[in-house]
Amino acid sequence: MTGARSIFIMLAVATLALPAGLTAGCRGERTAKRPRQFFPGMDDQPKYQPQEASTFFADGRAMREPVAGAVPFGARPDEHDEWLPVGRQRRDFLKADDRVYLGVNADGSYVETIPVRAVLGLAEGEPVPPGAVRALIERGQDRYTIFCIVCHGGTGDGKGMVGLQWSYNLPNFHDPQYQPGGEKGQDGYLFHVIRNGVANAPGAQPPLRMPSYAERVSERDAWAIVAYLRALQETDKGEIADVPAAQRRDLLNSRGATAPAGGTN
Ligand code: HEC
Repeated sequence: MTGARSIFIMLAVATLALPAGLTAGCRGERTAKRPRQFFPGMDDQPKYQPQEASTFFADGRAMREPVAGAVPFGARPDEHDEWLPVGRQRRDFLKADDRVYLGVNADGSYVETIPVRAVLGLAEGEPVPPGAVRALIERGQDRYTIFCIVCHGGTGDGKGMVGLQWSYNLPNFHDPQYQPGGEKGQDGYLFHVIRNGVANAPGAQPPLRMPSYAERVSERDAWAIVAYLRALQETDKGEIADVPAAQRRDLLNSRGATAPAGGTN
């Protein structure tokens, strides 16, 4: 019984293998002929490829515009913003507000200050929850440390490890021109630089003297960095008297400026 069965199986295998062997081409051989299709399935269905011309539509294009008024929904907006609640992420689908997404007013000028409520996903006039701005600044510090510090340095003086070696001189963020009211001091301008980089002279290579961070830093994170840059600028203006008395002694100790009265801790 088992013998007959194994003969049957061997025969079946041989019969199946024979046509496969005949039809298989030699591996690695090139041919200009169309591939043989034994199971064409849906390989050859009539269809349009992206960007293909069409005689069917009046404008000659196969790709269609979305229906007027369609609201984009369903894709993930921006993976960098996974820290935001989903409801707030929805606004990022439309990017309808130029102040928030481009940093410019209706007349194209840079916004003077961060559109804080919109950046935090709050309605116009809604109170800013306590701690929200601080959280934004801390997010900015986190992003600055990842993306900017290598060139612009921890204090923003432009003396980062990479910055010192870079082909173009780096600015000092404490210069008056970058302060509020300065020539390049609008929050919207700083935002613009993060998202677009700094262009080189027309035709010069490389096209950007500072790279664009739009791919790695979302709009909201760019605002967070701007908020942090402002905090950084403030640190430079501070006096020792601004430090709460309780922490003043520790600070002076760490600088070695005065000998503490009661010895070291
Ligand atoms: C690879 C180095 C590099 C990194 C990283 C970098 N920058 Fe710059 N940045 C430059 C250079 C170079 C300039 C000066 C360009 C010029 O005007 O020649 C500059 C200029 C600027 C300016 C002033 C632009 C102006 O018009 O004067 C701002 C603001 C700025 N950077 C912010 C940032 C921020 C924020 C980040 C992090 C998201 C960042 N940069 C990351 C190289 C860098």
